[in-house]
Amino acid sequence: MNNPNPVKIVETVLRDGHQSLCATRMRTSDMLPVLEALDDCGFYALEAWGGATFDSCLRFLNEDPWERLRTIRKHVKKTKLQMLLRGQNILGYNHYADDVVSEFVKRSVANGIDIIRIFDAFNDTRNLECAMKATKAAGAHAQGTLVYTISPYHKDKDFVKLAKELVDMGADSICIKDMSGLLAPYAAYDLVSALKEEINIPINVHSHCTSGMGAMTILKSIEAGVDIVDTALSPFAESTSHTCTESLVYTLAGRERDTKIDVNKLYPIADHFKKVKADLEKTFDLKGNLGINPQVLSFQIPGGMLSNLRKQLAEMGVADKYEDLLKEMPKVRADLGYPPLVTPSSQIVGSMATMNVIFGRYKMIPKEVRDIVRGKYGKTPGPISEELKKLVLKKGEEPITHRPADDIPPQMDKMRADLAAKGYPNASVEDVLSYASFPEVALEFFKKNR
Ligand code: CO
Repeated sequence: MNNPNPVKIVETVLRDGHQSLCATRMRTSDMLPVLEALDDCGFYALEAWGGATFDSCLRFLNEDPWERLRTIRKHVKKTKLQMLLRGQNILGYNHYADDVVSEFVKRSVANGIDIIRIFDAFNDTRNLECAMKATKAAGAHAQGTLVYTISPYHKDKDFVKLAKELVDMGADSICIKDMSGLLAPYAAYDLVSALKEEINIPINVHSHCTSGMGAMTILKSIEAGVDIVDTALSPFAESTSHTCTESLVYTLAGRERDTKIDVNKLYPIADHFKKVKADLEKTFDLKGNLGINPQVLSFQIPGGMLSNLRKQLAEMGVADKYEDLLKEMPKVRADLGYPPLVTPSSQIVGSMATMNVIFGRYKMIPKEVRDIVRGKYGKTPGPISEELKKLVLKKGEEPITHRPADDIPPQMDKMRADLAAKGYPNASVEDVLSYASFPEVALEFFKKNR
């Protein structure tokens, strides 16, 4: 579809860029020198918070994530600030009560967030409901997310149906979230075209370069009329991260969909982040770019996971099981109803497959897998295998079919009381939310800083 508007750019260097290439270790002090300059480029938004940044601040950097957000907001006055939120999981790994989700969203907006990208690993929209409502109520932009994967249950028509549901729920825009770089260029063209046919709100493509197709996917999305794309400044681009911002701006300059961003403004900022990256790699002993890995296309396993699994097997002394594991992963994924492999489903499928190749198929079944079978993570895209149901469900037991969070009573008062009992009776709402998200890590942080 013909889209005459300039392509809008979400710059991800402050969040996904360093999450993808530097284990989320960028410090606020690394960002400070260029925040005004970033604000001056004309980006549609700066993705600056959420995802793993919150956990990493508390756990590794001795930083208050809320303070980071306020600091960025103080220096970024014109450009929208964006965050990534895992729906009912917020930024953690399990489901929280609605009151925690609502409060988290409310305080995120109050501390400076304009756009919240909300996703659920299963694309179960009931897990997005509470966060979407809270985002709208706080007056922020609610971006509904299609977590992209390839399976018999993830055809273009399924994504269009899902996008329509998100529009009905009040989404202000739709993101195609391709966390593993599986979205092929022509598939992107078809999917974006299908969405533009049926949906009237902006479409945003978020794709990683893991498989080597990133820039081609972004360009074909643009040809199909996509409104917004995510990119990263060169030092934090490509490999397992995003398409390079400068290169895309240059590609479109003087053409119909010119971003209107002056590429010359980007170079000095990129120079700054080049030094930052070198420093982070040295300070935190990081490996740097992992290159590209087109094999993820065959295995449909996120790039980072392949190397993790290989390492785990070696540590357990069963390195020779690697090939078996590669074959087992897609089988487990199919048995669990073809969930997209993104946190937390990627870890769950990965550890189940590992146990299967070491101990025998489903000889040991971890709690998380049982919970998926019981419906506690929401509705899986396809049906769960009968074999797995038989192994997990007790006689006469049926999986739940209601919204999983309906079973979780309010938690905010309990968290506040917990924290008071631990010696922090006057904790701010933000501290209570940090504690609710990552209890042990937050307590350690408070011990050192409060
Ligand atoms: Co990403």
